[in-house]
Amino acid sequence: MPTLIKGGKVVNEDFSVMADVYIEDGVISAVGSDLQVAAGTRVIDATDRLVLPGGIDTHTHMELSFMGTTAVDDFHTGTKVKKEMETLVCEKGVNSFKMFMAYKDVFMLRDHELYAVFSQCKEIGAIAQVHAENGDLIAEGSKRMLSLGITGPEGHEMCRPEEVEAEATQRAITIAHAANCPLYVVHVMSKSAAKVVANARRNGRVVFGEPIAAGLGTDGTHYWHTNWAHAAGFVMGPPLRPDPSTPGYLMDLLANDDLNVTGTDNCTFSVCQKALGKDDFTKIPNGVNGVEDRMSVIWEKGVHSGKMDENRFVAVTSTNAAKIFNLYPRKGRIAQGSDADLVIWDPKATRVISAKTHHQAVDYNIFEGMLCHGLPVVTISRGKVVYENGQLFTKPGEGRYIPRKPFAEFVYKRIDQREKVRKPSAVCREPYAGKIVSIGQKRS
Ligand code: URP
Ligand code: ZN
Ligand code: ZN
Repeated sequence: MPTLIKGGKVVNEDFSVMADVYIEDGVISAVGSDLQVAAGTRVIDATDRLVLPGGIDTHTHMELSFMGTTAVDDFHTGTKVKKEMETLVCEKGVNSFKMFMAYKDVFMLRDHELYAVFSQCKEIGAIAQVHAENGDLIAEGSKRMLSLGITGPEGHEMCRPEEVEAEATQRAITIAHAANCPLYVVHVMSKSAAKVVANARRNGRVVFGEPIAAGLGTDGTHYWHTNWAHAAGFVMGPPLRPDPSTPGYLMDLLANDDLNVTGTDNCTFSVCQKALGKDDFTKIPNGVNGVEDRMSVIWEKGVHSGKMDENRFVAVTSTNAAKIFNLYPRKGRIAQGSDADLVIWDPKATRVISAKTHHQAVDYNIFEGMLCHGLPVVTISRGKVVYENGQLFTKPGEGRYIPRKPFAEFVYKRIDQREKVRKPSAVCREPYAGKIVSIGQKRS
């Protein structure tokens, strides 16, 4: 059924305008006033509400097998992997790859491996994503904490302080620059790592930083909570930081484009799964919730607090992700021809986040008790209302995989030009004609 969203304020990343939105066959067919609509069109009243592009969560792990099983293979570099990456890009529509500098002996890559993968990403037009933490230092720090008798969740943070994240972030940026590869740093969790990303951007590096809902909405003081299950619920890598000014600082950088895009890293384990590590924090499955509450948390801490406006909110929750991953303007914009993925947002409504009312399967919520101003009232996915006034209208299997093309212009225009104009060249000089010392000759 065609749908008309009437009387709302349409918010894109660059401007807001009072306009109606007409949707036919899952696509926005017109944006404006006094639109001609077909008989039988469903009208949704959006008076006093905002009409936003649907949010794009850049980073989730659904059904990930992790930390309960042992990975049997190491990461192979060389032609097999290189070829697989090319196949994924050219035939399967994958245009980003995540590399790990943490999880030693499981996923961790060494610097020469990172260089090889980043170089391949550049060749095939993919964006390299990196989980930036120094895996060797985490392994040493973990042993030390356990030897000191620190087995609880606080050990998780203490064995990987901020500089462990900041050092790896700087190293990844340096390696990516050496390979002239665009870099996307996932889950920027600390002030130190955020500063590294911000400085690199100011120095002209093609690097993007992704804070997540958890890091923007809560902090690592919870690891010291005396209730073990409460503390363990916040365990993720890189950890939330005990400095309580961290969330506000990350939000300031996000508001000002030092950081650029938001995900959640949603990777949920219930309390009984976290309990695998009840006597040893290194065995607590890493991951927290976020996918359901991301938009509310960012609105509350970003827009309601006055740090960003509604247009920047759209940029960091939707548009920038669409640009980086080459989905724009099909996604991330309300305009004629874009997919009808929309949220009707009531900026005046409030709710309190709670595991008792959330729709996720996990049995706790790291944002428990947070008061949020601004609520999604209606969510439309490809023209279909999938959420309205607290009720979900979705069926498993309705989601669609969208193949993405490589060489996203937003990311690659500068990279391609640098490749052309920044080729190193040798100095022309007369050949050296003097004496050369002999090496490797035995003394008689
Ligand atoms: O703790 C986390 N972040 N779990 C998910 C896996 C990852 O490293 O992103
Ligand atoms: Zn990660
Ligand atoms: Zn992740």
